[in-house]
Amino acid sequence: MKTQAIVPAAGSGQRLKFKIPKPLVLLKSKPLIVYCLEKFQKCSLIDSVILVVQKKYLARFKSIIKNYRLTKVVHVIGGGKTRRDSVVLGLKVLDKDTDFILVHDGARPFIEESLIERTIAQAAKHQAVIASVPVKPTIKQVNCKKFIVEKTLERSTLWEVQTPQVFKKDILIKAHAQPITSEITDDAALVEKLGIDVHVVMGDYRNIKITTPEDLVLAEALLDSRN
Ligand code: C5P
Repeated sequence: MKTQAIVPAAGSGQRLKFKIPKPLVLLKSKPLIVYCLEKFQKCSLIDSVILVVQKKYLARFKSIIKNYRLTKVVHVIGGGKTRRDSVVLGLKVLDKDTDFILVHDGARPFIEESLIERTIAQAAKHQAVIASVPVKPTIKQVNCKKFIVEKTLERSTLWEVQTPQVFKKDILIKAHAQPITSEITDDAALVEKLGIDVHVVMGDYRNIKITTPEDLVLAEALLDSRN
């Protein structure tokens, strides 16, 4: 069973308020993107990695890949306007004999090898699997024009979706080929629209997505707590 990873990391990172793209921001003197790539490098279940980045920084990313000896990264390509576009560009350079695709946000540095293994093992059985964790807070649906609560959602049924997400290759390709125009923030949403069951494996509360400046503070603290 051959699994290739696509790592979309071509976002503008505007919410982080840095001049350089988020994956290049240093976390304890190492570029943020290197953390997850090192995990893929180590994991024997991952055959190779396709890294999708902002076009104008291609050379910078390529030199980081070389410096950190991330030999499993076989393609570093320019991304698209949206996350979905970036994943589609990654799909175009997949090897023909790949069976499964693992998609992981480059903005999640703390993916553990055990989570990669768990997700891939379940995908072999269920074909479409996402890492996810039960939400901790109470979540309400709000009318964002009037700032009035529409309803309180039942917390026990709500899970926060993470990556990795692993899919059988043909399923993910078919999912992305659908002419859907609404905002799509993860790959599983497109697979759901095909009517295919998406299975959930327990993610990891440490597997945070770095989005806003306070996430970087949290990330440094998480790194300190490991040492
Ligand atoms: O914007 P969001 O936080 O949902 O992005 C999730 C991941 O998708 C990030 O790693 C980001 O770099 C990536 N992305 C991308 N291409 C875009 C937008 C986001 O690869 N055009």
